[in-house]
Amino acid sequence: MESKIKALREQVEQTLCAVQTKEELSAFWQQFLSKKGSIQGLMKNLGSVPAEERPAVGKVINEFKAQVSAKYDEMAAKLEALELERLNKSEQVDITLPAKKRAAGSLHPITITKNQMIDVFSGMGFEIYEGPEIEDDDHNFTRLNVAKNHPARDMQDTFYVAQDILLRTHTSPGQIRVMDSQKPPIKVLVPGRVFRSDSDATHSPMFHQMEGLVVDKTITLCDLQGMLDEFVKKIFGGSVKTRLRPSYFPLTEPSVEVDVSCFECGGKGCGLCKGTGWIEVLGGGIVHHKVLENCGIDPNEYSGLAFGIGIERIAMLKYGINNIGLLYENDLRFLKQFKD
Ligand code: DAH
Repeated sequence: MESKIKALREQVEQTLCAVQTKEELSAFWQQFLSKKGSIQGLMKNLGSVPAEERPAVGKVINEFKAQVSAKYDEMAAKLEALELERLNKSEQVDITLPAKKRAAGSLHPITITKNQMIDVFSGMGFEIYEGPEIEDDDHNFTRLNVAKNHPARDMQDTFYVAQDILLRTHTSPGQIRVMDSQKPPIKVLVPGRVFRSDSDATHSPMFHQMEGLVVDKTITLCDLQGMLDEFVKKIFGGSVKTRLRPSYFPLTEPSVEVDVSCFECGGKGCGLCKGTGWIEVLGGGIVHHKVLENCGIDPNEYSGLAFGIGIERIAMLKYGINNIGLLYENDLRFLKQFKD
């Protein structure tokens, strides 16, 4: 029996030495410590030991079993620790690595320009009004002094939705809607989308305008020039000058076109100003007495000034954009260049 225990002890040592995984440890337990295992087998053989030696041999076997059990526990703990270490290593995070950058969006150049324009005019006390994009003929043309067969209708190629219903060709109908609902003094800005059947490098079938309207007693062309002078200085820089040129719009009399001195060459003449030293930026004038009358405002008591600015035109000049289409393609390489 003693030699059997000794042989088993050696076998236990050897087997345990070779154990590297939980599965192998479990096989070790099956082989030696389970009910069908070799140590239990020794117990079963106890019958062959002389009766007087049995207690002593039984004790030795029990001690042996306790030792093997302890070794088993020790190995189980060791394997557990190794497994934990392996997991820790594989799940390790290097907190010194640079974080993934998330690209932040930015405002569209049209929105940036529109916001800047609104900022300038709201600083002068203008309020914002937004009219409908689908208009009727009356607001878009007739009450703005453009009668049904007026040749000025040819200036704006119109998209019709139905008989006398159209996509507004300018933000000027906003003037009528404001004067219909408010009594003077009036000082409003009407920003918004407008539509014309027109498309080339500087024209798009949909674009944006910003209308301005001031109605009060004793409003003159001087007020218009003063306001627009301030506006272009804020948008294009303090050294820029304005000049008014006589023009024609049916809704204003007199009408003017407003030029700014070229901010690229300072007025000497360059590609941007086509050698003239001046760049046309907007149209405006003194509100036609018929337009005031059409809205129930007495032109003998009140006068008004109005202007219409193309937002794309201002954005293209400001940022040096040579094709209006770029503003609508949503190409991120283009859009990423604009930060407010
Ligand atoms: N509505 C005109 C256009 O789109 C621009 C314009 C001219 C607006 C003169 C005005 C103005 O308010 O007074 O062609």
